[in-house]
Amino acid sequence: MSEPTTDWWRSAVIYEVYLRSFADGNGDGDGDVEGLRTRLPYLRDLGVDAIWITPWYPSPMADGGYDVSDYRDIQPRFGSLSQARLLLAEAHAHNLKVIIDLVPNHTSDRHPWFQEALASEPGSAARNRYVFRPGRGPDGSAPPNDWRSVFGGPAWSRGPDDVAGQWYLHLFAPQQPDLNWENPEVHAEFLDIMRFWLDLGVDGFRIDVAHGLIKQRGLPDLGVDHEDVMEPPDRLNHPHWDREEVHEIYRSWRRMIDAHPADATFVAEAWVANPKQLARYVRPDELHSAFNFDFLRCSWHPARLREVIDSSMAALHAVGAPATWVLSNHDVTRHVTRYGRPHTGARGPRTESTEPVNLELGLRRARAAVLLMLALPGGAYLYQGEELGLWEVEDLPEELLQDPTWERSGHTVRGRDGCRVPIPWSGDTPPFGFGPAATARPWLPQPTAWKDYTVESQSGDPHSMLELYRSALRLRRSHPALGDGTMRWLDAPAEVLLFARDPGFLCAVNLSSEPVKLPGGAEPLLVSAPLDRGRLPGDAAAWLSG
Ligand code: NOJ
Repeated sequence: MSEPTTDWWRSAVIYEVYLRSFADGNGDGDGDVEGLRTRLPYLRDLGVDAIWITPWYPSPMADGGYDVSDYRDIQPRFGSLSQARLLLAEAHAHNLKVIIDLVPNHTSDRHPWFQEALASEPGSAARNRYVFRPGRGPDGSAPPNDWRSVFGGPAWSRGPDDVAGQWYLHLFAPQQPDLNWENPEVHAEFLDIMRFWLDLGVDGFRIDVAHGLIKQRGLPDLGVDHEDVMEPPDRLNHPHWDREEVHEIYRSWRRMIDAHPADATFVAEAWVANPKQLARYVRPDELHSAFNFDFLRCSWHPARLREVIDSSMAALHAVGAPATWVLSNHDVTRHVTRYGRPHTGARGPRTESTEPVNLELGLRRARAAVLLMLALPGGAYLYQGEELGLWEVEDLPEELLQDPTWERSGHTVRGRDGCRVPIPWSGDTPPFGFGPAATARPWLPQPTAWKDYTVESQSGDPHSMLELYRSALRLRRSHPALGDGTMRWLDAPAEVLLFARDPGFLCAVNLSSEPVKLPGGAEPLLVSAPLDRGRLPGDAAAWLSG
């Protein structure tokens, strides 16, 4: 029997830990479970409710751990299962829930299933766990269809040791063969993997590529030669994204999780065409919540933001799900940088732009954006380092780039390493306390300018980004109007978003560069920038009692 559910996830602020870059416990230059464990008090004091840890499983790291070779263990460079148990126990003692990443669309090519498949005959049970097909053309030397890998190049490869010469599907890197979700054995295996982790004490799963598991039968051609996973598909009935049949999978997962005594939750990573499509993943008998990437993709523009907020809430509330809000994650350009590029920064979640970044503008907007996000009804996701005001590191030396996009694009697209640079904790010089004193160099170099952005240097400074996040999260916990629920827009100048939440809370966001007058009589609870005679400066936000 399940415990009575608290629905904690409806209002939760969940902090994404990109494990390799969070904190290094053993001094090898990579973040790890031990480093994270020692920083749990930091996260508790920040005021988040839960953490989501990116994949920690054994992996050859062809795609930052999203290429899993064993789903029931911890990657040695990150720690061990006993360290994971300790982490869970300590997190729970601090009242922090722990969500882990589940990667069901593909395994690593080093996974025993894939190795067995390569060594087996075409048509065998082992091959049927993946998507193998003969090639096109008289000698089968052309891929079976025109699908593209998200990281560039064709979505098909032939295993070097595959005597049968068949092609296998990989929507991501060649080291990430797609599983065949038409196969009941794949279903059974993932239900079992999830039970393993729930029994160990995790509080939920973030579902990687939740919109990708089912492919159209017959694998028809796409007809276009470039699509980006971090852009939603521009059409419905796409041959491999957001297919209707994925929902049956999530209904069975929900039955499993509801029957488990853990009070656990699912969050979907689904890049889909519109909020209505997203809402289909969070119907009452499917997943609990889903990242709202429309909010993340939205430019700093009042009418557009309002439209996204309204359409997200309408679609999600129609199925009884909470809205969620997110500004950054380990796949997208950090939002300080996006907002600091007023002309090109909003064109997509990853901008390969040459427009100079106005850091001061980006930071000002980021301060306002977090107050907006945390005041909206529902849950919110934070990405490590945004509470420090970190920006995208766009000048990493090319020889250090590790995102598969860099190689797969023929060195034309640098990829996502710039948002994955290790966190600066303390001190005046790199590695800024990322690991123990004699630590190896972090796997990616940190900008020297981050000396003013460390946790240590911002702590106690009332004007810092960190203290803004801490104050906002403290207020969010204590104010009865915040978290899940509803909101009302109030009349305001065109450049201002003004809304009320009951009881007694107003949020005002000024998206213009000119100051505006705050609603009369309202008492500021928290502001993202200094007020001058009751006037809210440009690109700033205020929380008011009202
Ligand atoms: C989405 C993850 O967030 C991303 O980092 C990864 O590369 C792809 N899925 C493939 O697993």
